[in-house]
Amino acid sequence: MFWYGNDQSPTPGSKHRIAVIPGDGVGPEVVDAGLKVLASVRRLDPQIKLTLDTYPWGSQYYRDYGEMMPPDGMSILRSYDAIYFGAVGDPDLPLNIPVWGLILPMRQAFDLFVNLRPIMSMDETSRMRMVIVRENTEGEYLGQGARLYPGTARESALQLSSYSREGVARVQRYAFKLAERLNMSCTSVTKSNALNYTGVLWDEVFREVGQEHPDVEASSILVDAAAAAMVTLPERFQVMVTGNLFGGILSDLGAGLIGGLGLAPSANFNPEHRVPGLFEPVHGSAPDIAGEGVANPIGAILSAAMMFGYLGYVEREDRIFAAVKRALARPESRPRDLGGTARTEEVTEAVIDALLWSVANTNVGVDESEPSH
Ligand code: NAD
Ligand code: IPM
Ligand code: MN
Repeated sequence: MFWYGNDQSPTPGSKHRIAVIPGDGVGPEVVDAGLKVLASVRRLDPQIKLTLDTYPWGSQYYRDYGEMMPPDGMSILRSYDAIYFGAVGDPDLPLNIPVWGLILPMRQAFDLFVNLRPIMSMDETSRMRMVIVRENTEGEYLGQGARLYPGTARESALQLSSYSREGVARVQRYAFKLAERLNMSCTSVTKSNALNYTGVLWDEVFREVGQEHPDVEASSILVDAAAAAMVTLPERFQVMVTGNLFGGILSDLGAGLIGGLGLAPSANFNPEHRVPGLFEPVHGSAPDIAGEGVANPIGAILSAAMMFGYLGYVEREDRIFAAVKRALARPESRPRDLGGTARTEEVTEAVIDALLWSVANTNVGVDESEPSH
């Protein structure tokens, strides 16, 4: 359904190694759901060979050992093909500790510059069908700055933001190629009226990269207007390419517009595939509902689907998306955040049933030699 920069199908019999990090709060609950769906795909297609290793890294690990992952955590992860991640965040820790101890290091050290966040309504009547391409390694998430004159009346905080020409060009180029493949338009979202350095560079590069793709309809919109248009005129957006902070905010807005944060999946990857891709729902650890068994697992399940797509099993990716749509069409399979009463496990079972149904009703699903994208 999407495109992960790699046009090669996996050679039959290839083995894929996946690191699983359930993390905190609802992370383990939704990752468990995603793993159940993944297990049912493996039962249907035994020739897909996956090895899964689970790592207990997160806020409890921090309480036990003083860090979110061991010192060699990143080099352990580097050897995998993909990382399947839940969420981190713990009400008893400062908000920046889990984020800078686990999630942002993975995105930045592996240079996973594409954060692909489809906002696809499962409701046929909705006009919301867009794909956010978020720059994932630069900008406002540089993590550099200073606290000046602490404890004095002059105390201030400085947070640096920097976009490089190459960093901007590569994510925009990816967005244009994605738009080309999906036969969609490409819209850039910035705030270059106020952000007179980073925003202006982004716009300049967008015009240049756009000229490399004259076949793709391109336009730019300021982020404030974009936020309104996502609500009032969602069909205005197909592929949206934007910076790190705006992409983060607009993806939660998009998720809210299609029903809730629990629905939205994401893929973080480098299109060259030399480092592991990272697959995680858009939502966080949701401490307000953690442990109750009511979290919506769909974002995590669809993130597992995108992981199949990234590994080259595009037909399985599409099939899981279709199964989710079919499952959610029945009111009794809807989780609490979508107005239903189904518990996490029941939603998951409904998706697996829909997957089994789709395989029983077609002959596909056991073909090893599928073309990739
Ligand atoms: P959140 O996404 O965790 O929750 C926001 C709201 O959405 C809450 O009301 C929550 O109950 C609801 N929600 C989220 N996921 C849901 C699901 N699967 N099913 C049903 N409802 C769901 O965002 P927040 O409250 O701003 O952050 C909580 C913690 O998570 C913070 O520590 C934050 O830093 C962290 N966080 C982590 C990630 C990540 O690891 N990828 C992402 C976002 C936030
Ligand atoms: C997300 C999250 C992260 C982000 C946080 C946890 C740093 O909110 O994946 O959207 O802002 O990228
Ligand atoms: Mn977010």
